[in-house]
Amino acid sequence: MNIERIGVMTGGGDCPGLNAVIRAVVIKARARGWQVLGIEDATAGLIDLDYRSPRGNRWLEVADVDAILTKGGTILGTSNKSDPFAYVTTRDGEKIETDVSDLVLANAAKLGLDALVSIGGDGSMRIAQRLIDKGLRVVGVPKTIDHDLSATDYTFGFNTAVQTAADAIDRLQDTAESHDRTMIVEVMGRDAGWIALSAALAGGAHACLIPEIPYRIAPLVRAIRERQSRGKLFSIVVVAEGARPAEGEQSFAGARELGKMPKLFGAGARLAAALEPQLDSEVRVTVLGHVQRGGSPTQFDRILGTRFGTAAIDALAQGNYRHMVALRTPNIVCVPIADAIADPHRISANESLLSTARDVGICFGD
Ligand code: F6P
Repeated sequence: MNIERIGVMTGGGDCPGLNAVIRAVVIKARARGWQVLGIEDATAGLIDLDYRSPRGNRWLEVADVDAILTKGGTILGTSNKSDPFAYVTTRDGEKIETDVSDLVLANAAKLGLDALVSIGGDGSMRIAQRLIDKGLRVVGVPKTIDHDLSATDYTFGFNTAVQTAADAIDRLQDTAESHDRTMIVEVMGRDAGWIALSAALAGGAHACLIPEIPYRIAPLVRAIRERQSRGKLFSIVVVAEGARPAEGEQSFAGARELGKMPKLFGAGARLAAALEPQLDSEVRVTVLGHVQRGGSPTQFDRILGTRFGTAAIDALAQGNYRHMVALRTPNIVCVPIADAIADPHRISANESLLSTARDVGICFGD
């Protein structure tokens, strides 16, 4: 099929490297003579064509993306509540989730878009798959700081988030050591412990609690006391926001909002409340939160984002519509989106990073 116009959008939580992908998509598509529509706030810009007008959807030229490679965030805006299959609208004063996917297809046709590049995580890839099933041509580009998408060695954004978390641990270690404290560092990752495990390794943490391994307080207390008995009076405990005690659930902030995922909240504070009474030393909690989502992408994420962006244009040119670009080191390949969303990428018991972490004495509370 002859392509003349494509749309590009970013969906779900933002992460460093989104602009690197947008830049590469625009440069390569314009070189082929294709027009590129930047769609505002994920599918929100396709559900309502006047969305945020005049700042909203706009045709992008190379000049628009010239200086964005190193910038965090996304120039297109993003949203994690614009699933067209469960879009939140108000009826009779009450909020309800409605399927407005037909509108997305109709508006894409109205704009003359021949295909879309959808940059997003598992949620966006699921939406892309359903839109493809309805007849839209979409190529996916995998992003997420959580590193929880399958079928790619890495998503962009993860490397920068780990760097940010490891930098924070370095700083916290200085103050922990001065005050002989146990520092709990809460990191993101939802149901996957990749950020926690990688940051714990990179930052030299002493314990790490991840969603994949429910934890108990007793082994953690033993590990901290054992360090204290060796004169090491401070400890660093990394806890993933989705970690849970062996006899408990993940920690959430209230009920799920319509059209959104439930909000994980309070894992670090809950851990501190359980740990501090069992230690003779003080415990402090730092929640890194959205700091991990911002900032300039690392070199790794800039290069990966650029490779993904150009590969997405190749995939469209070759008609690989049901596909997502992926890193299979050292190559960029196309994989079916269905493979990427079939099973989330989690830390398994035989994960090699996990054995390395155990080998250097990191306690997982099990
Ligand atoms: O999926 C990326 C992520 O940053 C998760 O690690 C985190 O749980 C979630 O998004 C936070 O989302 P929000 O931006 O809606 O608070």
